[in-house]
Formats: sequence, C-alpha cells, structure tokens
Amino acid sequence: MTTRQHAQQLDEASTLAHTRDRFVLPPGVIYLDGNSLGAVPVGVAARLAQVVADEWGTGLIRSWNALPAGGGDWMGLSGRVAGRIAPLVGARGEDIHVGDSTSVSLFKMMVAAARLRPDRRVLVVEPSTFPTDGYIASGVADLLGLELRWCDPEDPLASVDDDVALLNLTQVNFRTGAMYDLAAITAGAQARGALVAWDLCHSTGAVPVDLTGAGADFAVGCTYKYLNGGPGSPAFTWVAPGLGARQPITGWMGHAAPFAMARDYQPAEGIGQWASGTHQVLALSALDTALEAFDGVTMDQVRAASLSLSDLFIRLLDERLPQLEIVTPRQHASRGSQVSFRHPQAYAVVQALIARGVIGDFRDPDIARFGLTPLYVSHTDVYDAVEHLVGVLDGEEHLRPEHQVRNAVT
Ligand SMILES: Cc1ncc(COP(=O)(O)O)c(C=O)c1O
Repeated sequence: MTTRQHAQQLDEASTLAHTRDRFVLPPGVIYLDGNSLGAVPVGVAARLAQVVADEWGTGLIRSWNALPAGGGDWMGLSGRVAGRIAPLVGARGEDIHVGDSTSVSLFKMMVAAARLRPDRRVLVVEPSTFPTDGYIASGVADLLGLELRWCDPEDPLASVDDDVALLNLTQVNFRTGAMYDLAAITAGAQARGALVAWDLCHSTGAVPVDLTGAGADFAVGCTYKYLNGGPGSPAFTWVAPGLGARQPITGWMGHAAPFAMARDYQPAEGIGQWASGTHQVLALSALDTALEAFDGVTMDQVRAASLSLSDLFIRLLDERLPQLEIVTPRQHASRGSQVSFRHPQAYAVVQALIARGVIGDFRDPDIARFGLTPLYVSHTDVYDAVEHLVGVLDGEEHLRPEHQVRNAVT
C-alpha cells in the first residue's frame, strides 16, 4: 500500500516544490480543478490594483501609449502576453494573438481555414470534444455552406479525405484527459491536403506542446485553466507563419492603421489582423502577471511533475478503490494532466468531496474529474484527496440529499 510518507518523499524530490508559493490558495482546500479555473497567482491582485489606480485612474486615455513614467502601453499588451505564452506552445510570440474567447477564436480560425481551401467542402470535428468546438464548426458550416463531419475519436484521420478543408481536434479530452499525438495527426492530415487546427485548452501550461516542430496550421487555447489568467481571461490564437490566413471579423483593431480612421478595411500584416476590437486591458494585465508563475520553469519539468502526480493518483485509486472505472489513459503518451473516473453518482461524489474541502468537478453524464496543476498541486494533496474520497464512499456521504442538488455550474 502506498503511504502518505511516500507522497511526502515525492514532494521533496519534486523540482517544482517551490512554485506552490507563487499562488494564493485558501487554507484547508485541496484544489484539483485547475483544469477548469486556475488558482490566483501571487501578484495578480496588486497588478490589477495598480493598473486601475495608476494606468486607468491617473494615466486615463494616455495609457494606451507608453507612459513617460513607465507603465501603460496597452496597445502592446496583447503582444507582450503572447511572448509569454509562446515558449509554452513551441511558437513565436509574433504568431500569437491574445484576445476574445476560445469560442470566438475558433470561429475566426475555422472560417479562415475554410477560405484557404476553397475547393474542399468538409470540416472534421471529433464528437467527444468540448461542445463549443462542435457548435462553432456547425455554425461555420451553415454560414459557408460546408459539411460538418464527425470523426471516430479513436481514428480521426480515417475521416480525412481529399474533400476535407480542416481537421479540428482538442489535444487533451476535457472529460477523460486522453491526449492525441499532435505531431503524428498533424502530419497525417496534412498528407491528405487538409489543414489542422488544435484546441489546446487542456494542454497549454500542462503538457509540452511544439506547434512549430509539428508544423501545425492553427491552434487556439484558453488562459483561465493551466495558465491561471482568471475567470474569462482572453484566449490565444496561433497561426502558422506564412499561411496567409485572413480572419473574418474585420474590426478596426485588425486594420493596418487603426487610427488612420480610413473608410476601407486594410488588414494589418501578420498576426495583427487577428485583433478585432479593443483589447481587454484589465484581463490581459492579470494574465500578464499570472504568467510570471512560469518564470524559470520548463515544460519538461511541468510534464514530469504532472505525470508523477497522475501516476500516484491512479495507483492510489487502484489500491484503495479498485471498483472505480478510471477513464484516463494509463500510458503516459496518451495522458494529459488530469485523472477522471466514472461513477453513477459522480455529481454527488464531487459535491461530497467539495464539502470536505477537496475541489474537483463533474462532467455529464458520469465523470468525476480532477485536474493536476503541477505548479501548485502536491503529491500529499493527491494522497489526502484519495483519503477523502475513500471516506466519502465508505460513509456514503454522497447519498446525502444536499449533495444531490444540481448547481448551474457543475
Ligand atoms: C477544449 C475546450 N475548448 C473551449 C472551451 C471554452 O471556450 P470559451 O473560452 O469560449 O468559453 C473549453 C472550456 O472549458 C474547453 O475545455
């Protein structure tokens, strides 16, 4: 049987033990939901206060430009944040736009991709992906008169023929944590002449991603999960350099010269065209500081810590609760940074855990899901969480009426 002492030894050996202090975590809480909303990094509250008081309060409109005393330069903020995200996804900052939601970014990307392949009529999406990807693809297909084709999750390339304009996949599945081989699938789809777009919401900051090495075409991702940017923080879009893609929301901020106030639209060169409207300055400021939590940390370190945490979680479940069906792949190469299991009362089990201070979440229909953010989750957290889970199930705490009540957000 694996002991708590063993978990403590793993923590002592971890190269990321120091990064937990980069976050504000409430006492008495084991937070295993960073794959939904990351914890608050130290410094974010002060940065927001400073931006509000100094840049907005005192600088006022002048803060769109760089202030003589330092600060401001809100026009360059999205680009600076892009520069921080770039090394996490194997890309250059100048090929990344930060703004909008993931859903809006998916829309822009799918329309742009379809227009790059005007002779092809099909968008391929994987049916167990996060619903917004399918909803947006369906909307884009309607708008452009294309066909939406659902692929086999086990073999997405089987659906890619010479009528496919775009294969859109989420690298790490939000329910199970199963991970695709990004490079192999990219190469396979491109060999059939299709473009490939990756949704990296559950990958960025959790697993190493090399968009450049894989030669992918597009990627989007959110920043409020493993990047800890805060609720509703802006998404990012990466477009392969030289692809010549043009996004469809032709707003003034993507114009080559927004303040020329010209009548006719003239797209900015490069990634600048992917901006549509005014930058989300407060949210970008929070994200900018949040990303400092990755300073001096390599994605290989993050990956090693993540796999060590999920290995421990799976081993403890196997030992102590073998009746549970773990749906997260056991092979490292196919696993993201979470552990999920099925339970007929998964919602109530998660509620009972939350009542004990262990925060995970539930995904319909029967998945209990636990995100492992290596920057602040420890092996002892994992040990203690499983101990609580055993307590919940042994004591049938999930059967209590208060744990049956469905909240709007699960
Ligand atoms: C894979 C994936 N795509 C997209 C989204 C959400 O998109 P948006 O940022 O538009 O809410 C999520 C949210 O959890 C997600 O998991």
